[in-house]
Amino acid sequence: MYSEAMASNLNKIFIVSIVAIAALLQRSKAQTTHIVGDALGWLVPPSTDTYTTWAANQTFRVGDVLVFNFAAGRHDVAQVTEAAFNACNSSNPILRETNSPVNVTLSSSGEFYYICTFSGHCSGGQKLRVNVSAAAASPAPQPVISPSPIIPPTPTPVTVPTPTPTPSPTRNPVTYVVGDQIGWTIPANTSVGYQNWASGKTFMVGDILVFNYAMNAHDVAEVTKQAYASCDSNSTISLNSSPPTRITLTTPGEHFFICTFPNHCSAGQQLAINVTGTATAPSPSPSIATSPTPTPSVATPPPTSTNTPSPPPPTGQTGNSAKSLNAAGVSFTFLAIIFVGLLY
Ligand SMILES: *[C@@H]1O[C@H](CO)[C@@H](O)[C@H](O)[C@H]1NC(C)=O
Ligand SMILES: *[C@@H]1O[C@H](CO)[C@@H](O)[C@H](O)[C@H]1NC(C)=O
Ligand SMILES: *[C@@H]1O[C@H](CO)[C@@H](O)[C@H](O)[C@H]1NC(C)=O
Ligand SMILES: *[C@@H]1O[C@H](CO)[C@@H](O)[C@H](O)[C@H]1NC(C)=O
Ligand SMILES: *[C@@H]1O[C@H](CO)[C@@H](O)[C@H](O)[C@H]1NC(C)=O
Ligand SMILES: *[C@@H]1O[C@H](CO)[C@@H](O)[C@H](O)[C@H]1NC(C)=O
Ligand SMILES: *[C@@H]1O[C@H](CO)[C@@H](O)[C@H](O)[C@H]1NC(C)=O
Repeated sequence: MYSEAMASNLNKIFIVSIVAIAALLQRSKAQTTHIVGDALGWLVPPSTDTYTTWAANQTFRVGDVLVFNFAAGRHDVAQVTEAAFNACNSSNPILRETNSPVNVTLSSSGEFYYICTFSGHCSGGQKLRVNVSAAAASPAPQPVISPSPIIPPTPTPVTVPTPTPTPSPTRNPVTYVVGDQIGWTIPANTSVGYQNWASGKTFMVGDILVFNYAMNAHDVAEVTKQAYASCDSNSTISLNSSPPTRITLTTPGEHFFICTFPNHCSAGQQLAINVTGTATAPSPSPSIATSPTPTPSVATPPPTSTNTPSPPPPTGQTGNSAKSLNAAGVSFTFLAIIFVGLLY
């Protein structure tokens, strides 16, 4: 009967509403874990405003957690006053933590300031200001129906670092940005270093390596295999210290690069690659085939110089925030069902 159907629908609406409200409550209570710098971690960044840009795209609320990932012994995390933050004065921090990861729970609203106390790091951009607002519960800033939860849940990475893995003997030169968004720095995982980045890539004569790094914080030296193995920076083949450093691979064989700053190489800032063949079209081309296309293919959209900070990967908020997004998405679905239900 019609009335039965109505009653059934009302039941559905009631249940669905409870679920939606529960989802809303869960969303408002959710705490967000902010991985500072995302994949970049906490280091002297490629650009001095990297962490400002990162923070600008985050919403910090009371109860949220900041996670600082860094190479212990190379960096630290100090909470400081605004004056000390502006002056990069690390002489008297409010708090200082040295063991990575440092998890900071934002327990009150207001502005908080974090720097690395290692010499030159703060002035090199390793500083973070966060503006923490009250917990999300009461103001309910975004109604669940707002279309924002419909954002595709898995944003595709900004850069596509993997070039064609098939080592075709002829291809156009490729420009590789060493470390992609992370750039050329002491890697977060010092035991892995740049091996993972280089593995799977094909380097050919004519290809270009771009090293992005903070001036006066790092440099790029090509060295011998022996110097690479012992992190000896006494006798380099070449040395570049003004970023971005572009190195064209002109000879086949193994090539080795290190940073000559003390202890950087031993902490993993070293790159070894194998260069094969030649990326330009070979002279004796037996097949008539197609003429070589003039457009050079570029593996990674180069984040250019240090002026434009590479945007942090879109995984800005992890864990709980993902859950809360899911919850919002679910409740949105339910509200849509209610809406459809009311139509009938
Ligand atoms: C750094 O801060 C301390 C107090 O925290 C102050 O005594 C000192 O003068 C400051 N140094 C500079 C260079 O501002
Ligand atoms: C810090 O946060 C990370 C990421 O949420 C977590 O995996 C880790 O267990 C936390 N460490 C501590 C000491 O709480
Ligand atoms: C921090 O957030 C509060 C509240 O949203 C705002 O009034 C204040 O201007 C912000 N401060 C800065 C420096 O952005
Ligand atoms: C570094 O990478 C190695 C090899 O993948 C792994 O075993 C190790 O757990 C990593 N260390 C950290 C701190 O992530
Ligand atoms: C580099 O030079 C310094 C000073 O000349 C020397 O003490 C050190 O042993 C050298 N390192 C290597 C690996 O040769
Ligand atoms: C280069 O390739 C050779 C032969 O495959 C290999 O033995 C060597 O370890 C490679 N070197 C590097 C730096 O990958
Ligand atoms: C910040 O977010 C806006 C809007 O979502 C986006 O357009 C912009 O690219 C983001 N910036 C960075 C640096 O991620």
